[in-house]
Amino acid sequence: MDVILVTGGAGFIGSHACKALARAGYQPVVFDNLERGHAEAVKWGPLEHADLRNDEDLKRIFEKWRPSAVMHFAAYAYVGESNLDPLKYYENNIGGMTKLLRACIRFGCEKLVFSSSCATYGTPDTLPLTEKTPQQPVNPYGYTKLVAERMLNEVERAHGIRHVSLRYFNASGADPDGELGEAHDPETHLIPLALFAAMGRVPSIKIFGNDYATPDGTCIRDFVHVSDLADAHVAALDWLGRGNASHSFNLGNGRGFSVAEVIRTSERITGLPIKVENASRRPGDPPKLVSDSTKARTLLKWKPRFPDLPDQVEHAWNWYKNSVYPVR
Ligand code: UFG
Repeated sequence: MDVILVTGGAGFIGSHACKALARAGYQPVVFDNLERGHAEAVKWGPLEHADLRNDEDLKRIFEKWRPSAVMHFAAYAYVGESNLDPLKYYENNIGGMTKLLRACIRFGCEKLVFSSSCATYGTPDTLPLTEKTPQQPVNPYGYTKLVAERMLNEVERAHGIRHVSLRYFNASGADPDGELGEAHDPETHLIPLALFAAMGRVPSIKIFGNDYATPDGTCIRDFVHVSDLADAHVAALDWLGRGNASHSFNLGNGRGFSVAEVIRTSERITGLPIKVENASRRPGDPPKLVSDSTKARTLLKWKPRFPDLPDQVEHAWNWYKNSVYPVR
């Protein structure tokens, strides 16, 4: 079986990718420092508790497992935190990836699937966003993802490592079988917080800005189910495995939902009222982000199984009601 090293495989999207890899006949090996991930989410292969910024950890694990490819999720991913402490983001997201790529070169691992973000586009002038939309990030987190994409291009030219960068829109939902879900600390994302408000874990949800130039004044996002993101990673790996060239792909459903719509959907799915407070705009929030994912659908043959917001909210709700690993 092909061994795939999954950095950040104990995190939200990485853990779902491990499940999809195992289902597709690969052997995932998780490389995670558990700073933000959960050992309980590692269910489809071994966990190597290690840090990307540590050359010895990388050497030991590459020698032991000789992975045929890497899926690279491990990174900090809070936009707000990146504004407050940008160097923390460059040190981990870029510093860690530099060492990872050195290990790939040294051990002859020549395929990499990279967890990128629509945050690399910043606030676009036109919608929907295609892969040709100019990448102009508006926060340090987005810059680290863009720099990482550039690093991959340059490392390919110099050392021949082929890669796919997957630019996710808003990851949502949870494993439909209830085996995995989202557990961030602090939780800052819209759907989890709306559900926390429904179940009384927090008293209310704040709407960050209701004066945007959108139909109901609240921001619009394109939500994509985490299991569909996981499937796209396997499709990207297969793409590289067939000898295809490096590419970047947007991953979204091409439909925008406003913050107010998401909260209403959450009330409907849970059958519970959600207390809402209007708050000021959150710095760095683009008013509207909607993807064009035609390229992934065409080249990777990616077909999301759960494109509808109510399914995404329902899977997340099922997870929070029955959550099996501690929320961190
Ligand atoms: N929002 C609220 N109240 C909350 C939380 C969020 O109104 O309590 C709003 C935000 O202002 C935003 C929308 O809900 O308009 C979505 O916010 P999230 O924090 O859920 O998601 P983001 O769109 O900010 O961030 C996501 C990913 C990031 C990625 C970014 C790219 O979580 O990693 O998309 O734009 F960088």
